[in-house]
Parts: sequence; C-alpha cells; structure tokens
Amino acid sequence: MTRATAVAHPNIALVKYWGKADRELNLPATGSLSLTLGIFPTTTTVELTEEATDQVILDGATLSGEESARVRAVLDLVRERAGTGAHARVTSTNTVPTAAGLASSAAAFAALAKASSVAYGLSLSDAELSRLARRGSGSACRSIFGGLARWNQGTSDETSVAEPLEWKGEDLAMVVAVISSARKKIGSRAGMNHTVETSPYFEGWVRSNAALVERASRAVAEADFTSLGEIAEMSALRMHASMLGAEPPVRYLTGKSFAIFDAVQALREEGLEAYASADAGPNVKILCRSREAALVTQSLRERIEDVKMHVANAGPGAYLLDEGERPS
Ligand code: DP6
Repeated sequence: MTRATAVAHPNIALVKYWGKADRELNLPATGSLSLTLGIFPTTTTVELTEEATDQVILDGATLSGEESARVRAVLDLVRERAGTGAHARVTSTNTVPTAAGLASSAAAFAALAKASSVAYGLSLSDAELSRLARRGSGSACRSIFGGLARWNQGTSDETSVAEPLEWKGEDLAMVVAVISSARKKIGSRAGMNHTVETSPYFEGWVRSNAALVERASRAVAEADFTSLGEIAEMSALRMHASMLGAEPPVRYLTGKSFAIFDAVQALREEGLEAYASADAGPNVKILCRSREAALVTQSLRERIEDVKMHVANAGPGAYLLDEGERPS
C-alpha cells in the first residue's frame, strides 16, 4: 500500500507527563495515565509521492519549520524501518482547536504513526505504534489506545511505551470547558523543558508524580472512581506548581480556570463527584461519571459565564479508515 488514512483522538492525562529524561528519544521523567476522548478526532492521510521532499498540510495550510520537521522526523523513522527513501504527502484535518492545550498533538502523532506505517508497508503492533507516536510527541503514545492507558516511563526506546488499562467501573466522561481556543504562547515542549531546567520544584514533582502513577493504577484496577479523581486533580495541580516555580514562571491557568476548579469543588461538596484537570493552556477538563456528565455540565454553566463545554465519553484507539470513508 502506498496510501493510508488513520483516525486518532486526543487523550487527557489523569496523571500528567511533564518533563523529559531524554529529549532525543522523548523518554519522560515519570510515567503517566490518561483517558482517550471520544471527541475531536484528527484524520491523517499519508501518501507516498515521487517528490524530492515531504509535504505536510494541516487543515489546508502547508506547514514549515519546527512543525513540519517533527512530522518529517517520524516519517524518517518509518522510512528507515521500511528500507526506503520515498517521500510522502501528509494531509491532516483537526477537529479540535490546534495548540490550545487540548492535546491536538497527541491525536495528530498517533494518527500519523498509524497512517504512515501502513502507507510504507509496515505492519506494526500497537506497542510499536505507541513507541513511534511517542517520538513525535510524548503524549501521543497514549492515543494509540482507547479508554484508559498508562505510559510506562521506561529507560529506552523499547521500554517507554503505553499500554491499555481495563476499567471495570462505571463509564467515565470528561467535560472539556473551553475558556480560550487561542494558540498558547508557550508550547508544552518548551514549557516542560524550561521547568526541568529552572524550577526548584521539579524534583519534588517527579518524586510525587511517580508515586501518583502507581496509586492511580491501583485505583483503576480496583475501579475506585473517587481515588482516581482525587489523584487526577492532585497530579494536575502539582504539575502546574512545578511550572509556577520556574524562572521566569510558566503560567497557563487564568483566574477563570481557577473559578472552574472552585466550581468543581462546590459540586463535590453538594455530592456530585467531579474532578478538575488542566494542561498547557487555560482550559479545564472535568472528570466525572458518564451518566452524570450532563448534570455536571449544566451545573457548571449555571456557575460560570461564557465557557463553551464539550462532553466526551471514552474514545477509541487509533484506527485505519477505508479509502473514501470519513469518521462520524
Ligand atoms: C500538559 O506530549 O505535547 O498535556 O512530548 O514535547 O511533544 P512533547 O510534549 P506533549 O506534552 C503534554 C503535556 C501535558 C500533559 C500530558 O498530556 O500528560
């Protein structure tokens, strides 16, 4: 096959990844654990061409510089494995606002790993796809899998890989509260590298977050939603604490983000279980039970003005599309 199209969804970390142990291989400073969402898919087609260079088109615009270099770096790994030098045209469509802390790069590189490996004639296992996606963007290794996934930190290219986790509890959902879809000023890669280099809290973050991965894995195994939610909120706040300690500080959360954290806490005090999380942007993601997601959304709307909310149930792992087919 010389052309393939794949779909992947963003994932939101319940235990965060923030900081690399190896920048070249994209090995993380700690493991992490996430939920793949059933909304905002990215669809990517990779087609081998006779051209002298790769071409990368995102939402109709040709990419250049750093963004296209990251895509080409993944294609290089695939070419090396496939034993060919053929270039490719990569055409990708996002349904999520790009670079607004909504994990668009996770869906993008998971879809790229799947589509490019098939277009170049490789038949990779999910673990191999996860490793390949990781090279493009760390968090992408988790979007190869649907539902809950754990990215094992690992110490090498082979061992730093995500795996799916079984959840036997009630269905999970995430309410995505969008405060801003503007492109963030500091990307997650720059933000985390700067935190590693300058924050005196980074060590404490690594130590505590490694323990949270283990606690969250136990909560998943025991289908303990309350513990999982409490751990998720803690990991998010500790990640932001580590970057607030950087010099100069990295601050993604705004007053409105904190107002949503407050509102989520108020819901809990009223007996509606919900837990807040946020990534490299001001938007807040709220973990709750699927059957209570509509109520959580409505209650938050009553408390916070001008916030767009999207409800996501657990979504699928990366998958191939038959030619001509489009995701629903
Ligand atoms: C805050 O995966 O975007 O979303 O590996 O440099 O591409 P790179 O970083 P990226 O970082 C994601 C950071 C986060 C937390 C998370 O998803 O775990």
